[in-house]
Amino acid sequence: ASIGHEIRNPLTTVRGFLQLFQGRNEYAQDKQNMEVMITELDRANSIITEFLSLAKNRMINLKPHNLNRTIEGLYPLIYAAALLEGKEICLELAPDIPGVLADENEIRQLILNLTRNAIEAVSKGGKVTISTCFDGKYMVLAIKDTGCGIPAEIYEKLGMPFLTTKENGTGLGLAVCYRIVQRHNARIEVITGAGGTTFCVRFSRPV
Ligand SMILES: Nc1ncnc2c1ncn2[C@@H]1O[C@H](COP(=O)(O)OP(=O)(O)OP(=O)(O)O)[C@@H](O)[C@H]1O
Ligand SMILES: [Mg+2]
Repeated sequence: ASIGHEIRNPLTTVRGFLQLFQGRNEYAQDKQNMEVMITELDRANSIITEFLSLAKNRMINLKPHNLNRTIEGLYPLIYAAALLEGKEICLELAPDIPGVLADENEIRQLILNLTRNAIEAVSKGGKVTISTCFDGKYMVLAIKDTGCGIPAEIYEKLGMPFLTTKENGTGLGLAVCYRIVQRHNARIEVITGAGGTTFCVRFSRPV
């Protein structure tokens, strides 16, 4: 079996027992701690999932695809997350853009990871702009924030697994993004400064 299963199966067993014990009166005083344990197991599980998605030989399903549709589909989710933190989300989607060959799930992941970073980078009242355009050759997806930029020592290592400056960060978000971009024969460009950061993804082969 894969390493994923080998690690996940024991986690699932432990999680099952915790859930069972949670319902027992004799453990009433530990109920809350068990909830924490379950949450932590779930976190370990999702880190494994994320890490495994870095695998080089992963199968992806490329189909003609309109980036605007994906962004519009994710918008309610992104908007709610930003609103909760008092941050602004702005969409600037070019009409009638050509499609790209893409894997729907991976593109969703890419947009969510970049947007989450952008939301995390801005302070209350800050703004995140998601835009698309066709520059004549490439389909461009850009996520721009008004945060304080990426420090040089982090910028140099961007995309390295487990690189993080966040207390609760895993440092897998961008590693996953870079892998997705690579699998799509796309390019990622990062423009960063004191006024904020823009992640630009250029997709070739418009269809
Ligand atoms: N838009 C941004 N503005 C400023 N810094 C950023 C931005 N995006 C990424 N970074 C920096 O790059 C680091 C790595 O980002 P990455 O998304 O890989 O991990 P993370 O956000 O720390 O954790 P997670 O695994 O939860 O995504 C971040 O910790 C942060 O320091
Ligand atoms: Mg992140």
